[in-house]
Amino acid sequence: MLILSELHEGLLVLTINRPEALNALNGDVIRALSEAIQAASTNDDVRALVLTGSGEKAFVAGADIKEFAEFNAEQGRALSAQGQTALFDLVEQCPKPVIAAVNGYALGGGLELAMAAHIRVASENALLGLPEVSLGVIPGYGGTQRLPQLVGKGKAMEMILTARAIPASDALACGLVNAVVPQAELLNAAKQLAGQIMKNAPTALSAALKSVLAGYSRDGFGAEIEHFGACFETEDFREGTQAFIAKRKPQFPGK
Ligand code: CAA
Repeated sequence: MLILSELHEGLLVLTINRPEALNALNGDVIRALSEAIQAASTNDDVRALVLTGSGEKAFVAGADIKEFAEFNAEQGRALSAQGQTALFDLVEQCPKPVIAAVNGYALGGGLELAMAAHIRVASENALLGLPEVSLGVIPGYGGTQRLPQLVGKGKAMEMILTARAIPASDALACGLVNAVVPQAELLNAAKQLAGQIMKNAPTALSAALKSVLAGYSRDGFGAEIEHFGACFETEDFREGTQAFIAKRKPQFPGK
């Protein structure tokens, strides 16, 4: 099972279960998670959701690089557009509160997934970042839009352009996560927060989510899809992805 699902007293915990690839998001994981979120959105028994990753090492280590390394520009654009529609927008627009319990690496598409959630709680060992430019590509699942919304333009530029991941303590300081707890307490901390939220009126929670989101422009997401796709035509992208797969440092030709 790629997505483990556990419903208890109104709280649905969805666990991305591909630990051998650090829970990287391939097409099958995206489809399965999308279906689980859609089902939860219309299930009256579900009042809040927690998203987490299986194992102690990773929340999600990104989109599956091996799956898209041979893609062309058109396939790159489709990957980004379909992923955003099928999963990331769906998480953000879920009418029930979604908390990401970030239990380790949240890189690339993994951080983008956590940022699409409404609230983030991280374990002390978590590392969060958008390393895409080190692969010759850019964030394509909403990261160029949601990171500046959460941490401000300057910090987002620093994180995206350096490709450097930051520890949970820094993520807390810049507002990227809402709380940091020891790993053994992470799921309970997320459940407690969900419990506090679930005491409130479901209809008001849904209205609050819609209202907060209404204040943020959607203009940049289409631009991200276009620029993400264009990266797939570059020699830099070939070099970056092949270097990752071969476990070596990239030598970017700059074109
Ligand atoms: N895609 C595919 N496979 C991945 C992966 C990913 N994003 N991340 C990890 N894996 C695989 C590794 O290839 C490895 O597989 P093998 O055992 O078959 O070699 C396995 O998971 C374990 O990973 P590592 O051996 O690399 O573990 P590590 O502890 O040495 O390193 C890590 C951990 C630093 C997270 C490293 O795995 C890493 O850098 N992963 C890639 C992170 C990344 O660049 N993410 C962004 C992806 S691009 C993206 O997300 C685009 C987008 O916005 C749409």
